[in-house]
Amino acid sequence: MSKGRTALVTGGARGCGLAFARGLAEAGANVAVFDVVSPDDAFNAIEKDCGVRTAFYRYENLRLGNRVTNWARVDISSQESLEEGFTKFQMDFDNALDICVPCAGINRHLPFLEFTYKDHQDLLSINVLGLYFTAQLAAKQMISNKTTHGSIILVASMASHIAVRSQLCSAYCGTKGAVKSMCPAIAKELAEYNIRVNTISPGYVRTEMTASFPHLLEGWKSEAMNGRIADPEDIMGACVFLASDASSYMTGSDIVVDGGVTRW
Ligand SMILES: NC(=O)c1ccc[n+]([C@@H]2O[C@H](COP(=O)([O-])OP(=O)(O)OC[C@H]3O[C@@H](n4cnc5c(N)ncnc54)[C@H](O)[C@@H]3O)[C@@H](O)[C@H]2O)c1
Repeated sequence: MSKGRTALVTGGARGCGLAFARGLAEAGANVAVFDVVSPDDAFNAIEKDCGVRTAFYRYENLRLGNRVTNWARVDISSQESLEEGFTKFQMDFDNALDICVPCAGINRHLPFLEFTYKDHQDLLSINVLGLYFTAQLAAKQMISNKTTHGSIILVASMASHIAVRSQLCSAYCGTKGAVKSMCPAIAKELAEYNIRVNTISPGYVRTEMTASFPHLLEGWKSEAMNGRIADPEDIMGACVFLASDASSYMTGSDIVVDGGVTRW
């Protein structure tokens, strides 16, 4: 479905991002990943299993301003690091880019009355600014390479639709609301370049992000109509669909994949 296309996934070392990278590769796309942690073995298997090209961005002797680091990963919350990552990716993949999935994100479990500026800033700089500028740099690259299959898939959350009953995540909900709200406005501006922009809003997914709440698992199951928590593979199909021409008339929309949590 996406054979010969090139995708970039942030936060693709593990969890939902890794599943998106795998799904896009299974559909035939070459996949590059930006992340700050080393990739799961499952990422390293994609290239051979799917017969596509993959790349994970990590640098030796990376220069950031006046500072030279021996080892750096692409941190989407740093403008310099993100731009360096895109420059390198652009060179490696001959400017090809058709699909971008800004997925990297963090959560903080803290009561509203105890949230600090620093905690909130961390969330904003990754979940909002990092995602926004990933999408912007991707769009610039897609415009310059004149792809006719441009698709940007922003990862929001069901937390952009509801207060998450069992968690203390007011700032997280706000960041995901920002992602969902910015989507139609970006979609409108990129329509003239034939680039579509949509969001996915996952429900409870079994990843590192939710692993710190084992005591909440049973409650989450009972919140879903189907009585279970999603695996990242359950969310993957929505990403593959939005990346492909099967969704060619969809832009500015949100797909909720939550086992019905927000619907009853
Ligand atoms: N797990 C869930 O229940 C759930 C539900 C709704 C939405 N989401 C969203 O899905 C996305 C993926 O989350 P996940 O559940 O797979 O969590 P995860 O923690 O397993 O994956 C997040 C990835 O983002 C990377 N990342 C974090 N900060 C980064 C930075 N500054 N630069 C580059 N990479 C960075 C992490 O290293 C990690 O690989 C997030 O945006 C999250 O908000 C998750």
